[in-house]
Amino acid sequence: MTSEPLFLCRVDDIGEGGSIGVAPDHRGRDRVLLVRQGQAIYGYINNCPHYDRAPLGWKKDAFLSGDQTRIMCAAHGALFTITDGLCELGPCLGQRLTPVALVITECEVFGLDIPEFAYGRSTQQSSGAAA
Ligand code: FES
Repeated sequence: MTSEPLFLCRVDDIGEGGSIGVAPDHRGRDRVLLVRQGQAIYGYINNCPHYDRAPLGWKKDAFLSGDQTRIMCAAHGALFTITDGLCELGPCLGQRLTPVALVITECEVFGLDIPEFAYGRSTQQSSGAAA
């Protein structure tokens, strides 16, 4: 874990009402997902609480339900609130996504205290669904 703010992306990289995945070390799989709603941006570790370290997206940058009101896990369809990562429907009902503290400047997004397992270099690859 690093306490230094870590550049994740530019604000404009996330479309309004959209989501993207980013790799904190800028290589390997996207281990953090970001969702933008107006001026607010929410960040979570890209791991589903239902299955250890299974990534949520069904393709690159696709982390939302069809109506874009929830974060969705592609593996078994769990739905999470965007604002707090709580699972409202699915096999991990009541569990939460792991939040990533963000520092958002006028045009850039930084992550704080991202856990070591969210980096590609010291973790095992998940055998879950692809992100
Ligand atoms: S792995 Fe996410 S709902 Fe099962």
